[in-house]
Amino acid sequence: MRALTSVLGEDQAAFLVRQRVARLATSDGMGKPHAVPVCFALGRASIFIALDEKPKDVPVTRLKRVRNILENPHVALISDRYTEEWNLLAFVMVRGRAELLDPDTEEHAAAVRLLRGKYHQYETMRIDENPVIAIRSEKAASWGALAEPDTYGPQVLDTIHGRRSVRRYLQKRVPEDLVERVLEAARWAPSPHGRQPWRFAVFTKEATKEHLARAMGEEWRANLEMDGQSVEIVEKRLEGSRRRLLDAPVLVLICLYLEDLDAYPDAERQRGETTMAVQSLGAAAQNALLTAYDSGLDAGWMCAPLFCPEKVVEALGLDTGLVPHALLTLGYAEGDPPKRRSRRPLDELVVYRD
Ligand SMILES: Cc1cc2nc3c(=O)[nH]c(=O)nc-3n(C[C@H](O)[C@H](O)[C@H](O)COP(=O)(O)O)c2cc1C
Repeated sequence: MRALTSVLGEDQAAFLVRQRVARLATSDGMGKPHAVPVCFALGRASIFIALDEKPKDVPVTRLKRVRNILENPHVALISDRYTEEWNLLAFVMVRGRAELLDPDTEEHAAAVRLLRGKYHQYETMRIDENPVIAIRSEKAASWGALAEPDTYGPQVLDTIHGRRSVRRYLQKRVPEDLVERVLEAARWAPSPHGRQPWRFAVFTKEATKEHLARAMGEEWRANLEMDGQSVEIVEKRLEGSRRRLLDAPVLVLICLYLEDLDAYPDAERQRGETTMAVQSLGAAAQNALLTAYDSGLDAGWMCAPLFCPEKVVEALGLDTGLVPHALLTLGYAEGDPPKRRSRRPLDELVVYRD
């Protein structure tokens, strides 16, 4: 069996490794063509494709692509990048002979590992019980800007650049599935030892928001008075903050939860552990904000709970092991979206480069 590297150039292999989907073309004994989109993984000598669509009582050999391979092993696989910037277009096409790997073989087990490593969705699918298609490549052709970055890079940056803090919302309901999407993103944030030291509380009911606003308002009033602010200013700012909470269709309170963290005998390491947990809470919040923006929602961040965590816990009847840190507001911006705040240039932020 020829190594893939003897057929594929380095740039072609690197391009294929980054692609998530390809098209597999097969043809039957009469030469009638058939093409399907496939997930694939690159091995050392072959390209592997799982068979995951088998209905329980139908053998995989009924799939058209499998019947074709059994009749005529010559196949082609093409993976391409399309973007509106045509200087970034590219494709790689591989021709070869396809075989079906039997589930009892070592090569099959290795192929399943590769496929599951690339696509987490396969972890819970029974691809290990079905044959895997292995393409023994014979020839490769390619065109375009193979080395250029893939489209997902710029899309993520578009979301990052587009997001901005919103503080006034329309009275428009936020669909529940979008709130779930935002929470799902928060759940996947990096965390120290993977302990996920955060919990979320979600509020949409007027009465709960009012209750929360009152609890935080009392503390804020005391702080503002301590700062020597005039009565009118104190009342104005408190009313502004209360309206912000009441007008936001959804509030997501992010609480620190430290009980699952490692315990150290010395205070210094324990402090480090707590700092990591707080850093991770910030990552969860940012995941949530970016996903909100990416889902067509607007969002904002309020730090108020951080200054009166016990009051918030008490007002909402939360577990006393939770430390409220951040309140995210979710909804649809009222009026023109706020202008993006400018950022310092990278030259100023990167203080050392080697
Ligand atoms: C930890 C943290 C706390 C924040 N607290 C508040 C807040 O209490 N009220 C508020 O209006 N914005 C708050 N923000 C939002 C910042 O003001 C905002 O991110 C910053 O001005 C940059 O604007 P942008 O988010 O639109 O890019 C907070 C942001 C962070 C990261």
